[in-house]
Amino acid sequence: MTLDQKTLNLPIRLRRNRRSPAIRNMICETHLTPHDLVAPLFVIDGEKTKVPILSMPGVERLSIDLLIKEVKELSKMGVQSIALFPVIDPSLKTVDGKEAWNIDGLMGRAIREIKFAVPEICIIADVALDPFTTHGHDGLVNEKGEIANDETVECLIQMALMQARAGADFVAPSDMMDGRVGAIRDALDEEGFENTGILAYSAKYASALYNPFRDALKVKLEFGDKKTYQMDPANVREALFEAALDEEEGADILMVKPASLYLDVITKLRDQTKRPIAAYHVSGEYAMVMAAHNAGFLDAGKIFYETLLSIKRAGADLIFTYAIKHVIEHL
Ligand code: PBG
Repeated sequence: MTLDQKTLNLPIRLRRNRRSPAIRNMICETHLTPHDLVAPLFVIDGEKTKVPILSMPGVERLSIDLLIKEVKELSKMGVQSIALFPVIDPSLKTVDGKEAWNIDGLMGRAIREIKFAVPEICIIADVALDPFTTHGHDGLVNEKGEIANDETVECLIQMALMQARAGADFVAPSDMMDGRVGAIRDALDEEGFENTGILAYSAKYASALYNPFRDALKVKLEFGDKKTYQMDPANVREALFEAALDEEEGADILMVKPASLYLDVITKLRDQTKRPIAAYHVSGEYAMVMAAHNAGFLDAGKIFYETLLSIKRAGADLIFTYAIKHVIEHL
């Protein structure tokens, strides 16, 4: 048999639609654009200061002045949203994390100054106590050593109000306390912030993929783990219930986190809700690929592009990712 000799009688040949870039582009089902991406950024005190994060090659903690430069650069690339995380001085950490709602603290200043310098950027502010507590938990600890739900929600309200006053477009509770979305919505509305959005970390799993992020924030858990408030990775019905409750309580965007190991959760949530879905491609998902890239085993840019595409294909509308600069050339 010579090559090119037709032996099969095949009326349907799917390879016809893969013959050239023009045809492939024409039938492409999923498009990733810079508008889909949210850049998580770590802010530190000081000026002209950048501090690398060992486990996240290419990601740096930036002082506000450099952060503003970075935001302008991202904006030129078409990225219009950022998620802000403060790395505060250890001397400001307390058991109750009250620095979290200090409007003159690092987070308040960062929001104000970025909003002033680049007003068109959408600022998503993280609402959780862990960057501010000495014990590293997302909430207050009671005398039994438990994370106290309702008392923590009172703190989260203060924190969200501070961020709204400073100019945040969205507040994003990442703490997984029950009832916090509704409580924050009420408080925002009462103060006239009815246009400030809530992006709820609805299905946030107790994942081992957050360690590089905790390195970045210099957060060390003094005791226990986060399994009494973050979700068991084994559960998906519970995730759908969490998301439905957050939606009822007034969440504008629902998040699944982490992303690539939880694509089934994203897809099922897509079938359940009409609300936009965010997915967080987290620090550990970034770190694993960068480690393999730096060892010469795979190409980070291509892996990240494929990963983000799969997250979008699963049903996410927007993706928080540290990999923006690696994928931008593919978009
Ligand atoms: C904490 C918070 C975490 C992340 C975002 N907000 C870590 C945690 O829950 O311990 C993780 C993000 C990442 O890993 O990139 N409120």
